Amino acid sequence: MKELIKAVTSVRGDIAFQLSHAGMSTSRRLIGTTPLAPSGNVANPYSSSAPKEMNEKDILDVIDSCTKAASRAVKAHVKAIQIHSAHGYLLSRFLSPFFNHRHDEWAGSDENRFRLLKEIVVSLKKVLPNNKPLIVKLNASDGLPRGITPKLAATHAKWLEELGVDAIELSAGIVSHSVFNMCRGNVPASEIAQAQPEKYRNTIEESLKKMDGNH
Ligand SMILES: Cc1cc2nc3c(=O)[nH]c(=O)nc-3n(C[C@H](O)[C@H](O)[C@H](O)COP(=O)(O)O)c2cc1C
Repeated sequence: MKELIKAVTSVRGDIAFQLSHAGMSTSRRLIGTTPLAPSGNVANPYSSSAPKEMNEKDILDVIDSCTKAASRAVKAHVKAIQIHSAHGYLLSRFLSPFFNHRHDEWAGSDENRFRLLKEIVVSLKKVLPNNKPLIVKLNASDGLPRGITPKLAATHAKWLEELGVDAIELSAGIVSHSVFNMCRGNVPASEIAQAQPEKYRNTIEESLKKMDGNH
């Protein structure tokens, strides 16, 4: 990490490290253990098996791991830290009513679904010196029914500002459920398909429409 930072700063670049927990956006094959999620009752398109519903210790471990990762980054003289809380990675699933159906203090209300991100921000602020900005990448929309909407995202942004977060990067979409809300914007599936080799066009158009997030 130190070498990477040195290489970037030697050409007058700045570098931020992004802290990200994939949650259920991965597979047992890749990580050697069952992927984690706020709730186990959500299909995992990455895997035929259900994710593990996190217990209290799993949640506290994530806060601890993020804090330790931020401390290592500070020690390596990183310029800034970003927390990834978008695209269906763990933290954004906690924020989303579509994915987080827990019956404890980590869900049940917008405040509770925000709790994990809040605890991580509070913990990171304790280890980050004042000159190391803390940035959060946030979904402005999940592109899913009952998921994060722009209105809810505005509430998340306000709460993050109150916690002293320095900047917010807005994105959208859930890699496993509405990936084309993330990468395609409003470009029609037919238009993207037109840019592909003819023999693949129909298949690609059908696949894009299925992945559109309108389900
Ligand atoms: C192959 C690939 C890898 C990506 N890896 C990351 C990543 O590690 N972290 C991240 O925040 N976004 C990642 N993204 C998402 C992009 O940074 C970006 O958020 C996305 O293309 C949507 O654009 P927008 O955020 O401007 O809406 C990745 C995108 C692609 C296509």
